[in-house]
Amino acid sequence: MKSYQFPKDFLWGTATSAYQIEGNNKKSDWWAWEHRNKNKGKWPLEPSLLACDSYRRFEEDFDLAVELNNNAIRIGLEWARLEPEPGKFDQKELAHYKKVLQAAKDRGLKTFVTLHHFTNPVWIADMGGWVNPKVTNHFAKYTKKCAEEFRDMIDFYITVNEPQVYSLLAFLLARWVPQSHNPFKVLLVQKNMRRAHQKAYLAIKEVANYPVGLVKNIAWYEPSSSSKNPLDKVASGILRFLNNDFFLKPIKDELDFLGLNYYFSNKLKNLRIQNPNDKISDLGWWLETKGIKKVLLDLKRYQIPIYITENGLADAQDKYRTWYLRGILKSCAQARDKGVDLKGYFHWSLIDNYEWAEGYRPRFGLVEIDRENNLQRKPRPSFYEYAKICKSGTISR
Ligand code: FCB
Repeated sequence: MKSYQFPKDFLWGTATSAYQIEGNNKKSDWWAWEHRNKNKGKWPLEPSLLACDSYRRFEEDFDLAVELNNNAIRIGLEWARLEPEPGKFDQKELAHYKKVLQAAKDRGLKTFVTLHHFTNPVWIADMGGWVNPKVTNHFAKYTKKCAEEFRDMIDFYITVNEPQVYSLLAFLLARWVPQSHNPFKVLLVQKNMRRAHQKAYLAIKEVANYPVGLVKNIAWYEPSSSSKNPLDKVASGILRFLNNDFFLKPIKDELDFLGLNYYFSNKLKNLRIQNPNDKISDLGWWLETKGIKKVLLDLKRYQIPIYITENGLADAQDKYRTWYLRGILKSCAQARDKGVDLKGYFHWSLIDNYEWAEGYRPRFGLVEIDRENNLQRKPRPSFYEYAKICKSGTISR
């Protein structure tokens, strides 16, 4: 049988973020909100509490990555732990993350490290959070400190995760902290995050020429095959532009690589999203595997290396995960065959974790976390399928 072969140096990994797995991130704005909003009557947030206890169990997690035959891992640092007060870095936490990074290196894993993944130190939130342009300088100083301390223990520096998703969910849809409803803030936050990325890029480069990139969620939009409305084509084009060039073009010179988070495609009919519902995830997301190829081909014109930094599905029964993963990787291989410089794939996620406003219900892990039983790690069947793919570097056609 013919198969798609990925190159020897292709990076195979999984992705997590600090807040979603570490537990006890008491200095973060999200933590404060989990407790405060009970009394405020806004959208209630499930408390994250111990999360997956990965703050202590990171070695166990990395051992699972090794069992997956991974050669890379994406993890996050929690800004609030490292800089709990402006300009004061916590030595104990710096030492902790050095231990974490060393543990990854000891296992032969290349480290992709996210410096901002939705959560902030409380003092940043108290300044108005990302609406306040002053945050960009604080962020640049923090990222520079990370580069000075962690140096080449971090192979790939990721400044900001999904700035547009964050701005929309936190400042327009009021689902995420600080649960605001203000379209002007959305634009300001996006502008400030773009600026923060640029400043952080330069700040890290002052330390050394480490690769620095940003992670962007990009969905694919196109008219549904039954659409007869020409406006669906126009709207799809506008949405693709907003998702892509609108944000990326102004920072294209400050991207050594791009992290792509891909979760879905949307079909438009009469200006509404009308997706098929043949296969859907536990969160109701339509599961399809072709859109990623279209996004990748569209990104080719940027001529920078691309890594899929997140892709996955909530699937507690593990019903679709293997099928989905294989389909996505086939699309990735086809995009590579057409000249896309795709250099790695990180599945979201290694372990079930705290899915923000959705709490612990959605199960994104290749490994189940048994929340009733001491957070025991239990690999799902798809874990072993992914391990085979990572080992062989091939996908059958
Ligand atoms: C992405 C986030 C990640 C996780 C997945 C499911 O938008 O970056 O933290 O929540 O979605």
